[in-house]
Amino acid sequence: MVTKDFKERIEELKKKKDAFIIAHYYQRHEIQEVADFIGDSLELSKKAAQIKNNLIVFCGVYFMAEIAKILAPHKKVLIPYKKAGCLLADMAEVRELREKKKEFPDAKVIAYVNTYAEIKAEADIICTSANAGKIIEKLDADKIIFLPDKNLGTYYSQFTKKKIILWNGYCPVHQRITLESIKRVKEKVKNALVIVHPECPPEVTKIADFVGSTSQLVRYVKNSQAKRFIVGTEEGTVFKMKKEAPEKEFFLPDPIPTCDQMKMITPERLIKALEEEIYEIEIDPQISEKAKISIERMF
Ligand code: 13P
Ligand code: SF4
Repeated sequence: MVTKDFKERIEELKKKKDAFIIAHYYQRHEIQEVADFIGDSLELSKKAAQIKNNLIVFCGVYFMAEIAKILAPHKKVLIPYKKAGCLLADMAEVRELREKKKEFPDAKVIAYVNTYAEIKAEADIICTSANAGKIIEKLDADKIIFLPDKNLGTYYSQFTKKKIILWNGYCPVHQRITLESIKRVKEKVKNALVIVHPECPPEVTKIADFVGSTSQLVRYVKNSQAKRFIVGTEEGTVFKMKKEAPEKEFFLPDPIPTCDQMKMITPERLIKALEEEIYEIEIDPQISEKAKISIERMF
């Protein structure tokens, strides 16, 4: 529940500082309620490049705030909690990527958006879960190093003739959405469609009725004739689904998929970030410039 005080204080600070708040769908409901724009990682990157305000407060995990700074280097970009990292992004390391590139000199590199700027700077192009299939097809290479998410890579490998060299990374939140946990909900809830994020393990994406990025899942429930959905992704997404399709029912697997990193952005921290203008994102300009090329290539 968003309190009146919190909402009013945010509005006051936004006006005073000429700030724009953007938030990922996995953010706490209170944060989504006060954000000026909510989206998945592709939508957020596109939005970040268009914001007119000089102060951008990014409610998401660190790599997402980094993208905003890369695309708007002259703006002040804040993240309300600096330690809000992404466990999947932590699974890719630059030195190991350079070694992999040497091992496969004829391969090109697609880095999933869930990576830090220095990995993006080493990649040929970036993709998100919303466009990974298209990027794989359009890239002028038959051999592709795809990092860091092995589940996403495996999912899209089935639609291409290209050789996809996988990385051994995964999102612990989506990895915990198992076939058994989905089956348990299916037994209890009849006539429900299973819709999941491609970061889920292959045995889960295989039995799903629909696989898509966060925004694709939201759009799917809105446009579908079905009334009940078993949702295999982070629980914050259901908040948006309920708003878009209030007459429909949503069921999450147990244990409920929750990204603790995303939830590190709290109302208190958001207020403090605006008041004190913390924590500012800073990136080495050379790395930022290179990473920008890979991101813009994706656009
Ligand atoms: P989206 O690209 O669907 O926003 O996913 C980002 C993410 O962190 C998934 O766990
Ligand atoms: Fe990273 Fe997983 Fe959290 Fe997404 S859900 S931000 S991939 S840890």
